[in-house]
Amino acid sequence: MTKAPVAISPAPRARVQAMKEYHPPLGSRDALRLDFNENTLACSPKVREVLARISTGELTRYPEREPVEAVVAAYLGVEPAQLALTNGVDEAIHVLFEAFLDSGDELLLPVPTYTMYEVYASSTDARVVAVQAAADLQFPYEKLLAAITPRTKIIAIANPNSPSGSTATRAQILEIARRAPQAVLLIDEAYYHFHGATVLDLIGKIPNLVVARTFSKAYGLAGLRLGLLAAPVELMRWIRRVLSPYSVNSLALACLPAALADQPYLDWYTGEVLAARAELEAALDSVQIRRWPSHANFVLVDIGPQHAEFARRMRAAGVLVRDRSSDPGCDGCVRITIGTRQQMQQAVEALNTTIAALRAH
Ligand SMILES: Cc1ncc(COP(=O)(O)O)c(C=O)c1O
Repeated sequence: MTKAPVAISPAPRARVQAMKEYHPPLGSRDALRLDFNENTLACSPKVREVLARISTGELTRYPEREPVEAVVAAYLGVEPAQLALTNGVDEAIHVLFEAFLDSGDELLLPVPTYTMYEVYASSTDARVVAVQAAADLQFPYEKLLAAITPRTKIIAIANPNSPSGSTATRAQILEIARRAPQAVLLIDEAYYHFHGATVLDLIGKIPNLVVARTFSKAYGLAGLRLGLLAAPVELMRWIRRVLSPYSVNSLALACLPAALADQPYLDWYTGEVLAARAELEAALDSVQIRRWPSHANFVLVDIGPQHAEFARRMRAAGVLVRDRSSDPGCDGCVRITIGTRQQMQQAVEALNTTIAALRAH
């Protein structure tokens, strides 16, 4: 009789074994969603019209991204060869790290910042060099320059940054690119539409500059998973080797031109957010909650030791906010996404009641 084989579970790479599991706090989000920096209302109605007309053929065929990449490139004023659509900026980050981060390389990361940089870096053999912002959470420019070494291979800067809402200036970005010519400088402009400043026009002019944009935020298409990378052709040819030709699905590709074409909707939504942000900031000031200046569709606030209870009570009041107190330098902090003015009135009411209840304790 042959022996039953011993069950051996195949081991992944050591780096993967060392990775932390990352579970974003999704789940029962049937409330006012001020926790993920999404568009809190809707995408353009023009996108809904396209979705309603999706044909069987579009579902049965493999997605063809190139014609849509050409439309997006023309819209953004870059060459089609300089642009790749991705399955959200997350895929853009993933493929960029896969393509460039080798053993012994360093990823320079001003922190606190977007969680997924570290998640994707941790599956590579590179070392993450975190550059901590000071208590004001402003972009740690001088410290970052000082941290550049010959091993620096990627510098990832979210501009505006999350969760702080801070920004790097164009002059700072240019200087960083100049001081680290051996490194890819990723400027993640996920929140560009709420800020207005970009370095996309420098693509191809600065040999190591790469820009990412998303359709998850202002455009309201987080569920479709659409992002893009713009890079000089010399870098893009390596990135395309790693990128799946089919990772952006047909529905997303069909919707994208309609989303781009509806500039009035985008302007309306970003205008709402900026007005609502000012109103929330005024409300925070009037109850003396410390906050950081924001250039994006969220505000980071300092709740202090009661941060978890604050988030719990806000949830009970129908408003989801994001506890960021475990981010480096963010002890006691909570991030509040900005929606429309009407939505933020609800949020401000919940905030006032919650703060009053916490202070009464
Ligand atoms: C700085 C930054 N980049 C990228 C993303 C993710 O974008 P996407 O939905 O396109 O993957 C986020 C989402 O919160 C973000 O804050």
